Amino acid sequence: MQWGWGSTSAAEDRLPLKGWAGPSWVGGMGKQFYITTAIDYTNGAPHIGHAYEKILADTMARFKRLAGSEVYFLSGLDQHGQKVQLSAEKAGVTPEVFVREVSDRFIALWDRLNVRPDGWVETTDVRHKRVVQDMLQQLFDEGQIYKKSLRGWYSVRQEQFLNEKDREADGSWGGQWGLVEEREEENYYFRLSDHTAWLRGYLETHPDMIYPANRQTQLLNAVKDSEGVDLCISRPKSRLTWGIPLPFDDDYVTFVWFDALTNYASFAGFRDREPGVSGLPRWEDLWPCDAHVIGKDILIPAHGIYWPIMLHACGVPDEQMPKILVHGWWNMKGKKVSKSEKIEDDSVVKVIADLVDPNAIADVVGADGLRYFLLADIATGGDSDISEERILVRYNKDLADILGNLLNRTLNMARKYLGGTLVATTHDSELHAGLREAVVALPGKALGHMKTWQIHQVLADIIDGARLANEFVDKTAPFKLAKDPANADAVASIMRHVAEAMAHFSVMLSPAMPETAARIQGQLGWVPPVGLTLGDLRWGMLPDGHVLGEPQPLFPKVQVAAAG
Ligand code: MSP
Repeated sequence: MQWGWGSTSAAEDRLPLKGWAGPSWVGGMGKQFYITTAIDYTNGAPHIGHAYEKILADTMARFKRLAGSEVYFLSGLDQHGQKVQLSAEKAGVTPEVFVREVSDRFIALWDRLNVRPDGWVETTDVRHKRVVQDMLQQLFDEGQIYKKSLRGWYSVRQEQFLNEKDREADGSWGGQWGLVEEREEENYYFRLSDHTAWLRGYLETHPDMIYPANRQTQLLNAVKDSEGVDLCISRPKSRLTWGIPLPFDDDYVTFVWFDALTNYASFAGFRDREPGVSGLPRWEDLWPCDAHVIGKDILIPAHGIYWPIMLHACGVPDEQMPKILVHGWWNMKGKKVSKSEKIEDDSVVKVIADLVDPNAIADVVGADGLRYFLLADIATGGDSDISEERILVRYNKDLADILGNLLNRTLNMARKYLGGTLVATTHDSELHAGLREAVVALPGKALGHMKTWQIHQVLADIIDGARLANEFVDKTAPFKLAKDPANADAVASIMRHVAEAMAHFSVMLSPAMPETAARIQGQLGWVPPVGLTLGDLRWGMLPDGHVLGEPQPLFPKVQVAAAG
């Protein structure tokens, strides 16, 4: 088999990760906070569901760093499998060429959206294949993998054997399965059933393995239902060549689970043959995983049953089982956005060419406009519906009218009334104190929301803070006070307050909207101290004599033409 097995190209050598900005990870300093995402299938273009998950995990990683933790963030691509092989055949190219082209589209998107993982998974990477084979060989040697012949109903379209419970109520096979025929095939099976009792016990004694908690309850019920069933882990090469060969039988490749799920460990240094030389992090620094960020469709059975059992069977102890964060779906008109099903977007106004394509949304509202929408308009764990109207309302109202407007008017007034320089003042009032208190409360509130990763609440608090700052300007009316030189101290104090509030907002926004944070700071003429954490935020970061920068529109409004 020649499909690059011999190549030693490590994923991160090919990718632009090394040149990426942002805080880079430094190993060897004790346990890091380890965040991973699901790896995306490379059988088609990325869509907003993929973008949401990666932006969510990237924001979590940035937030944890801002809170003072050492963080390692891993993401990447699931490159093997039947669907990729078929898509490549259809496109008339080899799987290698096909996968490279699709992978590069994902990478370009993450680059554009400022998703900045510290490690990058590509499952065709030779270091990954070695670990997968190593685990399979161990389990085979221990008798945990066996071969058997199965005769049953096989869906040609979905490339899998079906169970009786897959039949419709009238006994037929639903249309989703396409042609269903009776087949007999020999394959390898992993003795999952030997471990389901262990998993049940583990889940019962570790109720915080999965967030949100209702997903753990669902999982526990599913584990009870799956008792007695083993897991098919191979496909004959006659049917699937684009995969990792079984180390103990060269006529087969491993099918999906050991290939895909193992990435979270193999790219974290599990059983690394060349520690220190391989370019992978140290297992002891990362494991166990603190947050596997996955969608609700892949918890049961893959990440909730197969993955913990695979780890357990390979000797990972109970106290090192991963924690899983399950997010919901972005839907369109109530239906999950996916590659396979096209949902007609019948928005009245069409400014965004394709609502499913993250690039098309970013073309209109920018990378941070998209990040903001995807994080602000969904509660972590729940579902949400995407629409052009929701995106534009979020952008034009929250970002342009409230945040952008606050910065712009602050800088313009400061130039007009103070020549752009903040000066010492003594003027104070209840309104001033109210704004100060609201702003300095933000980090504590954010830390509370982020215990359950409720980023939308963090963002809502920041936008509320900016709204309050706008009201503060409206009520204190520096534009009126400035007419009388006797009010110079009052005007200076108002400017001081809104500029300082803006500096705080920029830091608080930086995990979700890194570009915007940098642009606000640039316009404020403020360089935050290196390594600034949430705990360092205090009132008075802009000193006497601070010179503010040039105002530039942060979020130019998107004009929505009248329908009709
Ligand atoms: N390759 C597998 C995961 C590896 S383990 C077997 C896979 N890939 S995927 O490309 O289909 O999905 C990747 C991630 O995107 C999953 O966590 C999935 O839940 C998420 N999303 C895909 N569509 C989604 C939405 N419409 N909304 C939110 N996230 C969803 O599964």
